[in-house]
Amino acid sequence: MSWVAAELLAFCRWCNGSFFGHGIRDSVWLFPFVEIFHLLALGLLGGTVVILNMSLLGLRFRGEPVAALAREVRPWMIGSIVVMLVSGFLLFSTEAVKMYGSPAFQFKMASLALALLFTFTVHRRVTMLEEARIGAVWPKLAAVVSILLWTAVALGGRAIGYVPSSGAGGVGG
Ligand code: HEM
Repeated sequence: MSWVAAELLAFCRWCNGSFFGHGIRDSVWLFPFVEIFHLLALGLLGGTVVILNMSLLGLRFRGEPVAALAREVRPWMIGSIVVMLVSGFLLFSTEAVKMYGSPAFQFKMASLALALLFTFTVHRRVTMLEEARIGAVWPKLAAVVSILLWTAVALGGRAIGYVPSSGAGGVGG
């Protein structure tokens, strides 16, 4: 096992044994309570992604400059991402070793890293620049990539319950 894999497994074991991992796992209602926040924030995040990208694709909100719409939508997007990260970590902590060996969870985390990187670099830049300066292709391309990345994250999250995990053996273990 590589050093990184061993460190990750140690971190997962720590999360599993932590007071919050135990507390949520041993409670009848805490897990679904936390998952409500994960799903509500998912809806809000999905809404902000759709609004911004429909505007970039020129399908909706044509009267409104993209930059102005982005300024209005971005606080909701960032707020919902923060709630997804916190609620997701709490859900993860209840079954962290299982998530360590879950191909669906690993696909989700890889997609999430790409989605966050793209959202706060290229996508943010494209939404702030006037079309006159960047032409019609880049905004549309950025919108398609953004939709594909966030869809991959959500699909990975949904697949967690369906794709078997190899636990501490790790993916491919
Ligand atoms: C913004 C990013 C995220 C999105 C869009 C997302 C999306 C989802 C979706 C769609 C589900 C399935 C919900 C269901 O149908 O029951 C889910 C479940 C889950 N998510 Fe996330 N998630 C995000 C971030 C995270 C993070 C950062 C973690 C952990 C560090 C995480 C951990 C989990 C876990 C453990 C479940 C499975 C819960 C179960 O066993 O039912 N999520 N997520």
